[in-house]
Amino acid sequence: MNTGGLLEEIKSRTDIVDFISSYVQLKKSGQNWKGVCPFHAEKTPSFMVSRAKQIFHCFGCGAGGDVISFVMRHENLAFHEALELLGKKAGVAMPAGGADKRSIQKYEKIRELLLEASNYYTEKLKESKPAMAYLARRGITGESVALFRLGYAPEGWHNLIGHLRRIGCADTVIKDAGLAVQGNKGYYDMFRHRIIFPIMSMSGGVIAFGGRAMDDSSPKYINSPETAVFKKSDTLFGLCHAKEAVRKENSVIIVEGYMDVIVCHQYGFQNAVAPLGTALTPAHIQKLRTMAGSAVLVFDGDAAGRAAAKRALSLICQSNYSAKVLVLPDKEDPDSYLRRHGSGPFRELLETAKTPVDFLFEVASGSKVDTVRETLALISGITDVLAADAMLVELSQKGGIHETAIRAEFAKIRNSAAHGGSPAGDVQLPAAYNEEYLLLSAVIAFPEKMDSVLSRIDLNDLRDKSVVSLFKKLASLRKTAEAGRVLDVADAEEAKILTRLSVAPGFDPEQVDQNIEDCLRRMEKRKLDEKLRSAQTSGDLKLINSLLLEKKRFSQGMGT
Ligand code: UTP
Ligand code: MN
Repeated sequence: MNTGGLLEEIKSRTDIVDFISSYVQLKKSGQNWKGVCPFHAEKTPSFMVSRAKQIFHCFGCGAGGDVISFVMRHENLAFHEALELLGKKAGVAMPAGGADKRSIQKYEKIRELLLEASNYYTEKLKESKPAMAYLARRGITGESVALFRLGYAPEGWHNLIGHLRRIGCADTVIKDAGLAVQGNKGYYDMFRHRIIFPIMSMSGGVIAFGGRAMDDSSPKYINSPETAVFKKSDTLFGLCHAKEAVRKENSVIIVEGYMDVIVCHQYGFQNAVAPLGTALTPAHIQKLRTMAGSAVLVFDGDAAGRAAAKRALSLICQSNYSAKVLVLPDKEDPDSYLRRHGSGPFRELLETAKTPVDFLFEVASGSKVDTVRETLALISGITDVLAADAMLVELSQKGGIHETAIRAEFAKIRNSAAHGGSPAGDVQLPAAYNEEYLLLSAVIAFPEKMDSVLSRIDLNDLRDKSVVSLFKKLASLRKTAEAGRVLDVADAEEAKILTRLSVAPGFDPEQVDQNIEDCLRRMEKRKLDEKLRSAQTSGDLKLINSLLLEKKRFSQGMGT
């Protein structure tokens, strides 16, 4: 497949501003569009999108790229998946068959195999009376079975492997997909005699499986290992089915288990998702942030549930996200609660979800002062000043402690706390080579100036490695009239520079020629200064004198 042509086709039919607008609220700001960055926690917009350049760049975290990198990053998709998604939206027919890169091929193979395995498991479920009976006993409807594509892995060691081998799959791929375990007598099935919960990507492709024992045997669940297509800490079970409701209600319900998600959906709470048996991660929050303004965290009513709730709250606060917490009554989880009491009472319960401050007071076991300290520690993780302030006020009221005292204590904690966890940050353009960046910026904004600029500089005179490399890449691409594709050949750091300069050129576009002249002159002057310094070091008086003279003429020429 020639992705080049396809890529151009898709990009030419997609407008980045229109596209990103369906994820991020954008407002016109000068030449660009501006919004709150979906890739790091911020309240003040520093995320810029350029229609002219068809790229985005965030001044907060440095994220940047074209519409494809946006989709890959935002939806957690591989390159070709992002192409598919955009292609569908733009009405571009996608060729069947793989792309050319080997990693893409491997990725495709694993995804195909997982789909095949999933279909196999759903077939086996239909054939297994005990498995169907188990799900019926758990109150799972046929509709849910179909929607979540539940399955059954039969008893025995080589059922799935045998099936996959018969249709021509290689053992190594079966292993790479996380479906086979290597024993001393060769591979055997990872999942045996278990109910299968396919884990899907946001766009609905099967990327892994969870398997539940049908009796009390241990472990209760096993999950696929991480593979080329599955990263546990990034994935939320049920998100592909929940995303519409999450967006519509601007709120997401986060529960603990697979069963909980399925039963929530069944009872009309379609915005429920669950991590995969792990704690919530920053990657989870990042994914939810742009879809919903806040979350309700629902935890099981036991000590483990309360401890998990505290950990999750601390993460939520550090991520500047907003959430309430609901700890269910003793020994209940959303699944058991819904089936016992129905959706009305569950909805009422959700209404009683506690703010973080309220929650910490509710579960407090020590003295009031201890609880106040614990809450202050939580608040100290919040970098959003307004949100932190609102919580301090709430804490003062709730704890019955004067605000002045609360704030004094808070200042102490904040000063002593080491504040890690902030985003990697935008690219720093070294001020020392400012003129090189401005020159680069000029040819990014006006590619037609490239020839004349290149004819007047020697790339060997440039000091900044990234600038030199970008100049070379831009120059070579220009010949094939694909200047817009330079992002594809830029490394991560170069891409940041490229997108940053595209949304913020650093000069007035009307004055581009003046800008180029200024840059060239400053570079010339820099060169002279360097020569002079080295002449001074070597003590070559004659050279020093002639250079000083040259410099004088030069300054006069510049009119300074
Ligand atoms: P739970 O023990 O609460 O199970 O684990 P559950 O989801 O309520 O399932 P049922 O109702 O007992 O059938 C919550 C989640 O933790 C992960 C799974 O993702 C599970 O859904 N888990 C649990 C594991 O990964 N391994 C285990 O052994 C247990
Ligand atoms: Mn349960």
